[in-house]
Amino acid sequence: MRSARIRFWATTSLVFIFLVILAGSVVRATGSGMGCPDWPQCFGYNIPPTDVETLTWREGRSFEEGQMILLNDQFWVANADFTTGEEFTSENWTLFDRHDYNIFNPVHTWIEFINRLIGALSGLPVLALAIFGVWGVRRNVWNAVLAVGVLFLLLFEAWLGKIVVDGNLVPNQITIHMMGSVAIVLLLLALRARNTEGTYSYPKGILRSMLLLLVLVVMQIFLGTQTRELVDYALEHGVLRAEVVDSITSALPKIHRTFAWTILVLTSVLFFQQRKHGMLLPGFKPLVFAIALEWAVGVVLFFAGLPQAMQPVHLVLSIGILASTSYPLFLALRKS
Ligand code: HEM
Repeated sequence: MRSARIRFWATTSLVFIFLVILAGSVVRATGSGMGCPDWPQCFGYNIPPTDVETLTWREGRSFEEGQMILLNDQFWVANADFTTGEEFTSENWTLFDRHDYNIFNPVHTWIEFINRLIGALSGLPVLALAIFGVWGVRRNVWNAVLAVGVLFLLLFEAWLGKIVVDGNLVPNQITIHMMGSVAIVLLLLALRARNTEGTYSYPKGILRSMLLLLVLVVMQIFLGTQTRELVDYALEHGVLRAEVVDSITSALPKIHRTFAWTILVLTSVLFFQQRKHGMLLPGFKPLVFAIALEWAVGVVLFFAGLPQAMQPVHLVLSIGILASTSYPLFLALRKS
């Protein structure tokens, strides 16, 4: 039985998850990741500072436990609630040494804060979805399983974000994070498709190509994020942006570039299969447009010095491609 309520909350969750991915990539492109050194608060505040004045030690100023100051190019964290005396006394403070990021840039801080806010807000529709899914478990077990799965994955992503901010090195964390987002998007689209009215049936050959295309797109996203890990590593080690791609000795970026051909070829096969059957899959035109654009942006990233503004575009387009490949497939695979 289809549920309009589940469909509504799955759609709302999708919009939020998309915004989370977009905000995350803006954080990365602007280098704002450490704009808030602590988590979940930001410099110990619920609403982060806009002015360095807030982070400045002054005589007779009250601080709450956890709030931070910037002194001699280092962050210090208040050990308890107290009011400062005439001189700075280090017993009241703990040196913040989780990582050596020790500048205050209000633009970075607010970009990171807005990113976290969108992330936290995305939890609300996902929670509503899980509650309504479990509520209707007798009528539809799969709605409950998928909705709770989304909630579980979102909690996992938040936990991963926290341990990374806490300075723990997590190998392949960008890839794990990205593949987590891919899984969330796929589960939400499956939920939306399951609860959408109408009949969608395609010839077997087309179904097979769609399934293969989805597998290839997920693999390409995996290869892309692995490439990105190498790019980030090079940038963190002082390689100039324009020289990053050439500096990478691993074959991964080239594998990612070459693998893109399989997607192009299979999409062309799908086009001719549809022509043969005189039909058009829902969302096929946007899919072709997104793949063409993704290719163009990928070529610019690869050969034109990895321009910063193109990085979020490449990432967001990959989610668009994922959605327009999987959704028509999910519509066809569900029981009518
Ligand atoms: C359908 C085709 C493609 C898909 C789905 C795709 C997907 C992705 C994804 C998901 C990333 C990681 C982005 C991030 O985490 O910020 C990435 C990175 C990258 N891709 Fe692609 N890509 C495609 C085609 C191409 C092509 C054709 C090229 C080059 C000719 C290319 C070059 C790159 C480069 C250089 C990066 C690293 C950029 C960065 O670190 O931000 N991609 N790709």
